[in-house]
Amino acid sequence: MKAKLKDGTEIEIMDSIKDVPLHECLRHINSAVEEGAWIIYTKKMTIKEERAWKKSCLADEKKGLMVKTVALRDGRIAGSSEGRKQPGRNHGNVAIGIMVTKEFRGKGLGELLLKRTIAKAKKKFRPKNIFLSVAEPNKAAMKLYEKVGFREIARFPDWIEKDGKYYAQLWMVLK
Ligand SMILES: CC(C)(COP(=O)(O)OP(=O)(O)OC[C@H]1O[C@@H](n2cnc3c(N)ncnc32)[C@H](O)[C@@H]1OP(=O)(O)O)[C@@H](O)C(=O)NCCC(=O)NCCS
Repeated sequence: MKAKLKDGTEIEIMDSIKDVPLHECLRHINSAVEEGAWIIYTKKMTIKEERAWKKSCLADEKKGLMVKTVALRDGRIAGSSEGRKQPGRNHGNVAIGIMVTKEFRGKGLGELLLKRTIAKAKKKFRPKNIFLSVAEPNKAAMKLYEKVGFREIARFPDWIEKDGKYYAQLWMVLK
């Protein structure tokens, strides 16, 4: 499926990472690590680690445990998002993740990816809760989540460490 961002940039939307080359997945994650983005990873992934990650993602997609949305521009990942059904007694809960490559931010792509992933997660999992967590200083992400309908339900103080300082982690649920 094709879509247009706010500035007119045309992108391709895919619902799996199956056809996205491994080196492109690696570039996408490592560019965020390099930038020092508010993601969980602190070290760049190796090709071996990324291969294992992609393999486990594809297995989860196959088992019906994950929905994924990827935006591509000229074969490069502009952004991606996923919803993961949680295991065991957490099965009613779906965890959301999202990341937009720096040069594609502020053009509506995050909102597009998030809404598409939520719609797919609702349809596939009929979840009790759709949730995520975000570091308190990550205002861009927080604003996006609030815009789409997430509300804070819990706050873990001094939880996430970045550059030697601890920050609160907020838990948000889609209302
Ligand atoms: C958070 C992130 C996904 C937002 O993606 P994006 O494509 O730039 O967001 P959009 O352009 O779709 O913006 C949608 C809304 O989010 C909010 N928003 C986005 N960027 C913002 C910023 N820099 N400051 C304040 N609000 C912002 C706004 O409410 C915006 O709506 P508006 O355009 O009507 O004002 C992106 O910044 C990102 O990937 N960051 C690095 C990785 C990361 O932090 N992931 C989330 C981890 S919890």
